[in-house]
Amino acid sequence: MSAYNIAVIPGDGIGPEVVAQGIKALKKLSEITGLEFKFSEFPLGADHYLETGELVSPETKSDLANFDAIYLGAVGDPRVKPGVLEHGILLDLRFSFDQYINLRPIKLLDERFTPLKDTAPEDIDLLVVRENTEGLYCGSGGFLKKGTPQEVAVQEMINTYQGVERVIRYAYRYAEQRRGKLTLCDKSNVLEYAHDLWQRVFTSLGEEFPGVEQDHILVDAMTMKLVRNPEIFDVVVTCNMFGDIITDLGAEIQGGMGLAVSGNINPEGVSMFEPVHGSAPDIAGEGRANPTAALLAAAMMVEVLGHPAAADKLELAVNRALQLNQTTADMGGSLTTSQVGDYICSILE
Ligand code: NAD
Ligand code: IPM
Ligand code: MN
Repeated sequence: MSAYNIAVIPGDGIGPEVVAQGIKALKKLSEITGLEFKFSEFPLGADHYLETGELVSPETKSDLANFDAIYLGAVGDPRVKPGVLEHGILLDLRFSFDQYINLRPIKLLDERFTPLKDTAPEDIDLLVVRENTEGLYCGSGGFLKKGTPQEVAVQEMINTYQGVERVIRYAYRYAEQRRGKLTLCDKSNVLEYAHDLWQRVFTSLGEEFPGVEQDHILVDAMTMKLVRNPEIFDVVVTCNMFGDIITDLGAEIQGGMGLAVSGNINPEGVSMFEPVHGSAPDIAGEGRANPTAALLAAAMMVEVLGHPAAADKLELAVNRALQLNQTTADMGGSLTTSQVGDYICSILE
């Protein structure tokens, strides 16, 4: 029987509340399927940082490298300057483990959940493949004459051939398994170097995937089309920054931040699964956080570990709870975070 060592990073704010539901559900899934999960908690986040000054130590990183997967809640805390925990923990882990694919499915379960009018589940079913290690996120740049009226702040957007090629290739392969359409979302009309590279790689790799229809959209038009014609998208491949922005919009059209999932994948290494949402300090500690995204992230983890049938069981139970209104206030329900977790465990079969 398969057994997996999962590193758990609950993090800050609502992170621990939603991750606890995911672990509960994985334990139940284990009883049903015989899959074994052994959880080891890493207390990274604001408290740990404020107590020790440490974000992720080199020792912690070498420990994490021995796990089968990482399950993360969220980081970010009002007591810590914005960016410190986000860069120092979340992005550092994505980069250190070379999790170059960020998989973000956007799927509408029921028309009640979307703020878009006359939109049915078959209209919203896309997968964003976001580049996850380069672009504007790589921290390249600096200040000149900081704090003076002559200040210069440079933030560089790094695109390597290798980085662009591997994410686009992965997206083509995914498109082959889905409805056979891949859309490149970029800003090639302005970013004439960076996105020229993306365009060339997209076109030339396309020759290896004759069964996949190629489409292209500029990112500003993408936001418009996601609202007006989301049905035109199947798989969308895009750079790090645009992927961040369009997937929050994607989260809203499928029902909100409480539902959206994010898999940071290194197909050859340790992958990390998390909700798209952050630590939501405005509702932390109140039992109001929707655990759906964290539960679906756990399901994605099970799938990537090689057990799609078990992942389906969890996803089905989560979806059933949503459809039966057994959910938190953000979705119109009246349950607490842990009541939703309990309910999902009770119908998992
Ligand atoms: P957020 O996603 O934390 O919250 C945005 C809004 O959505 C808030 O009103 C929040 O209450 C609501 N919300 C989010 N998740 C919810 C859930 N599960 N159930 C119900 N409502 C939910 O984004 P933000 O407010 O911009 O950021 C807060 C902090 O989180 C910041 O420090 C930010 O840097 C950090 N952040 C971390 C991650 C991550 O760790 N992956 C992602 C995004 C933001
Ligand atoms: C996300 C978050 C992160 C990102 C932040 C917290 C660094 O917004 O996972 O979408 O920009 O990737
Ligand atoms: Mn984001």
